Amino acid sequence: MNGKIVRNEQISAGHFLLRVKLAESFKTPMPGQFVMMRDPGRIDPLLGRPFGVYGFERSQEEVTVEILYKVVGKGTLLLSKLREGDFVVVLGPYGRAFDTHPEAGKVVFICGGIGVAPITYLAEHYRSLTAARDAELICYYGASKAENLVGIKELKRICGRVITSTDDGSHGFQGLITERFSADISLYDTGSSKIYACGPRSMLKELSELMAGSSVFCQILMEERMACGVGACLGCTVLLKDGGGRGERARVCVDGPVFDIGDIHWG
Ligand SMILES: Cc1cc2nc3c(=O)[nH]c(=O)nc-3n(C[C@H](O)[C@H](O)[C@H](O)COP(=O)(O)OP(=O)(O)OC[C@H]3O[C@@H](n4cnc5c(N)ncnc54)[C@H](O)[C@@H]3O)c2cc1C
Ligand code: FES
Repeated sequence: MNGKIVRNEQISAGHFLLRVKLAESFKTPMPGQFVMMRDPGRIDPLLGRPFGVYGFERSQEEVTVEILYKVVGKGTLLLSKLREGDFVVVLGPYGRAFDTHPEAGKVVFICGGIGVAPITYLAEHYRSLTAARDAELICYYGASKAENLVGIKELKRICGRVITSTDDGSHGFQGLITERFSADISLYDTGSSKIYACGPRSMLKELSELMAGSSVFCQILMEERMACGVGACLGCTVLLKDGGGRGERARVCVDGPVFDIGDIHWG
């Protein structure tokens, strides 16, 4: 469907916050689901680009979706040029959502770079899910440098603790966020801990090595490249360890983008 842009603002170098007004019929996305977005006025690039949902509001007056995105190529550059009042095609929500656990005692979010976007939507969901109880929401957030820790204020509003890392040491721990998380990993070895992660493939691979042999629940959102976004082109497949009855490969767009971390074969 066509959505009308109500905000498309640069919030730090190369990072934008987009808010789009949608028709009432747009289904409320579950955390982890994504939308395909493209400029209706262009045939190059023809294909939409997938984005996790950063925020979603349904009120009596309107329905809006928020996307936090980083400009990396043609599609995202074109998106960044659109202005308030312009239209975008927004399709979805698509894909498998995160499994959530209202009874969780500690909910740990690990995000790298723009992986913060879908994790924030999940964290907000957990905040309302656990509002009546004393659940701890803890977020580990890594980026290359302090100014790339986009949306950190929002995360601090949602989570009781936000622990950061940067490659250059300009904010928090100097090094990778998985390194920082590994120092705390023993705090989260109980059945009541739930771990969720999104970030670059290298970060998720590293996390899977840290979690190997652990029985703690851990799900990841994979931001693989996509083409059709609806399961038809096989352009987004990932290898599975034993298939879990689903075969050797899974399509991120329809079988994911959320996977149990232990199911992925990292090659
Ligand atoms: C489920 C899902 C959720 C996502 N959520 C977000 C989000 O919330 N915010 C956001 O900014 N991005 C998100 N992405 C990534 C986003 O889809 C890509 O950055 C976007 O498609 C790039 O399009 P482009 O035309 O600008 O880049 P292209 O011109 O297609 O590519 C430019 C460069 O970026 C690389 N690249 C492109 N896509 C990816 C990718 N998926 N992973 C690694 N490298 C890539 C290419 O190899 C190339 O080097 C998500 C991806 C998926 C699958
Ligand atoms: S993007 Fe086409 S099958 Fe997943």
